[in-house]
Amino acid sequence: MIDARPHIPVMGREVVDMLQVHANGTYIDGTLGACGYTTMMLAGGAGMVIGIDRDPSAIRDAQGLAEQFAGHLRLVHGQFGNLDSCLDQPASADGVVLDLGVSSMQLDQAERGFSFMHDGPLDMRMSADGPSAADLVNETEERTLAEWLWRFGEERHSRRIARAIVAARAEQPLTRTSELAALVAKAMPRHDPHHHPATRTFQALRIVVNDELGELERGLSASEAALQPGGRCVVVSFHSLEDRIVKNFFRDRSASQPKGSRHQPPPIETATPAWRLLTRKPIVPGAAEIASNPRARSARLRAAERLTPDGGEA
Ligand SMILES: C[S@@+](CC[C@H](N)C(=O)[O-])C[C@H]1O[C@@H](n2cnc3c(N)ncnc32)[C@H](O)[C@@H]1O
Repeated sequence: MIDARPHIPVMGREVVDMLQVHANGTYIDGTLGACGYTTMMLAGGAGMVIGIDRDPSAIRDAQGLAEQFAGHLRLVHGQFGNLDSCLDQPASADGVVLDLGVSSMQLDQAERGFSFMHDGPLDMRMSADGPSAADLVNETEERTLAEWLWRFGEERHSRRIARAIVAARAEQPLTRTSELAALVAKAMPRHDPHHHPATRTFQALRIVVNDELGELERGLSASEAALQPGGRCVVVSFHSLEDRIVKNFFRDRSASQPKGSRHQPPPIETATPAWRLLTRKPIVPGAAEIASNPRARSARLRAAERLTPDGGEA
């Protein structure tokens, strides 16, 4: 029996259907997490799944599943930004899935430092190496802090919050999530009563600590290198910054370039298209899924299929 894990996979059915798993296929789950998609792919008859996660605890917790599906699941501790390097043969994968962001386990464990709801060390590292959120808030100059909050948190009060951080750390370094959350709440003139005032600040810092947007760009390029013609890439994102990167990547590298308007000549197609878009508009979860899993609320699924080297369908 597969153990019950606290992370509920978002749009699992839609993801697995989109990947069209089959017994001869090799699939890369670049964000293994609690093995939700991987388990569904294996149960659906996938020949081989390579499950990657940068969090060592996700890999550790997946050992039981690897034993259960021995010969069909390979676990890799690493980053999806170079997922193509996990393959024995280049361009041999039939599917790649990326389910962005953090898992419920990471969010819920106070000691990981992702949450403004639970007090813990100000950490936020998925992989437990490199600078932590505390290192960044205590050492980064005010202007850069404000820019991060603005760009990665879309935080309107970015400068005010950055100023408050710099004033607080002059007294003593910030080390706890609760300190930062309280400081942000105090610095905000007013805020939406439905959202904790520190939501955007925590999102921004998490993105910077884990270089999430850089990883996403590298992961999309690595998927292009990893997939064989006919192979599919499915990405589930949770905020507009991620979704924009996915949308633009597939649009710019797919056969369907935007049409010129009456006032503009059609764009000149210079490169051979690498992808065929499978989702013109993102797929979003239904009301029932959102009701049973609020984390699904902001999810957007986009997918594309790899073309042959001359831009044709496999
Ligand atoms: C949203 S959870 C995935 C949940 C999974 N789809 C499931 O159904 O259980 C995201 C996971 O991806 C991992 N992750 C995030 N960015 C990563 C990256 N660049 N490389 C590898 N793993 C990453 C996180 O550590 C986390 O475990």
